Amino acid sequence: CGDEIALTPPMGWNSWNCFAHEVSAEKVKSAADAMVKSGLINHGWTYINIDDFWNNHRDSEDGSLRGELRDANGKIVPNKRFEDMKGLADYVHGLGLKIGLYSSPGPWSCGGCAGSYGFEELDAETYAEWGFDYLKYDWCSYGNVIDGLPDNDPYKVSSLSYNGGGELETAMAPFKLMGDYIRKQSRDIVYSVCQYGMSDVWKWGGSVGGNCWRTTNDITDTWVSVKNIALDQDKSAPYAKPGNWNDPDMLVVGHVGWGNTHPSKLKPDEQYLHISLWSLFAAPLLIGCDMEKLDDFTLNLLTNDEVIDVNQDPLGKQGTCLQTIGDLKIYVKELEDGSRAVGFCNFGIEIVDMDYSDFEKLGIKGDVTVRDLWRQKDIANLDAGSEKLAIKVPAHGVLFYKFSNRQ
Ligand code: GLA
Repeated sequence: CGDEIALTPPMGWNSWNCFAHEVSAEKVKSAADAMVKSGLINHGWTYINIDDFWNNHRDSEDGSLRGELRDANGKIVPNKRFEDMKGLADYVHGLGLKIGLYSSPGPWSCGGCAGSYGFEELDAETYAEWGFDYLKYDWCSYGNVIDGLPDNDPYKVSSLSYNGGGELETAMAPFKLMGDYIRKQSRDIVYSVCQYGMSDVWKWGGSVGGNCWRTTNDITDTWVSVKNIALDQDKSAPYAKPGNWNDPDMLVVGHVGWGNTHPSKLKPDEQYLHISLWSLFAAPLLIGCDMEKLDDFTLNLLTNDEVIDVNQDPLGKQGTCLQTIGDLKIYVKELEDGSRAVGFCNFGIEIVDMDYSDFEKLGIKGDVTVRDLWRQKDIANLDAGSEKLAIKVPAHGVLFYKFSNRQ
């Protein structure tokens, strides 16, 4: 049952934002090796997820097939760069990690590779037989199924239709179909529903077997993208719980960029804010960068256990914005031990320098210890009812604190 796995948000790596259509088994193995060598494996990072382009595709111009899609029995055929999917899964498991892959409920994935339409049961069985632990199932061409595929050859859709489903049942149906087959397999497979937040997916993603679901369009490594996604998350927050997570998309830190990677265009303070918010959101944490180019700054962002602990807190509540003061937004996440993680998030271009005292608004009362999570040190003891806390939040930056009551 889907509610018994992913009891804290999944953590790992995904190939899309660094390799896109150039992903290969060798690159996936290298990413897994780097997860171990860098020590990230010791901080909870677990899944090595292959995104689009592990199987054959059709030419985006003339529609011609670039390889066999399925064998005579209908079994999905990986492309030349992924000759041995089971061997790859064994390799990744041998390192103590888990492995994921990607498909679409439509005939084609977003990149034009074969999707699972009409082959859902067999695909679920195949993924389990290969030993996969995570499936990202991406809407892509399912709009074409809704629009009505041409009679003569259902797979000759000329361009992807993103028809979002209209009726709720239409939007849910393809995810439920695959979700049921995934749950029938004799291994735990995290099921990631990807349809960019259409049809209020947070309200029903769990009921189709999903462990997480995308709440947004694709993220990019720009301030505008991260900011817009971040500010749009509160509406889905009440639906997050152990086994069911809202997914604001991948982490755009390190070297990203679809094969031609470059250091994330986010400034250092923006990256602190990005990771702090994704922790507060109890979001799946999927590193989107080239793992062989991890630099010290990125490693530091991804190995702070106190920051990760907020994300992985077993209570499984998603933090929300409880107060806005100009460009400052204060996000609060309730934690299992009764303490609260608080992000003083500055979305403006000026430093915020103030004495803060509205603790009651954040649900913080009595004598508290204030701990700076990025620096991993206690910075104040105060009476939340009467004392103030001096805060200085850099532009596009964050102070990420934990408030715990003193006995
Ligand atoms: C969509 C998804 C991305 C990625 C690509 C692959 O755009 O939102 O995360 O999986 O498809 O083609």
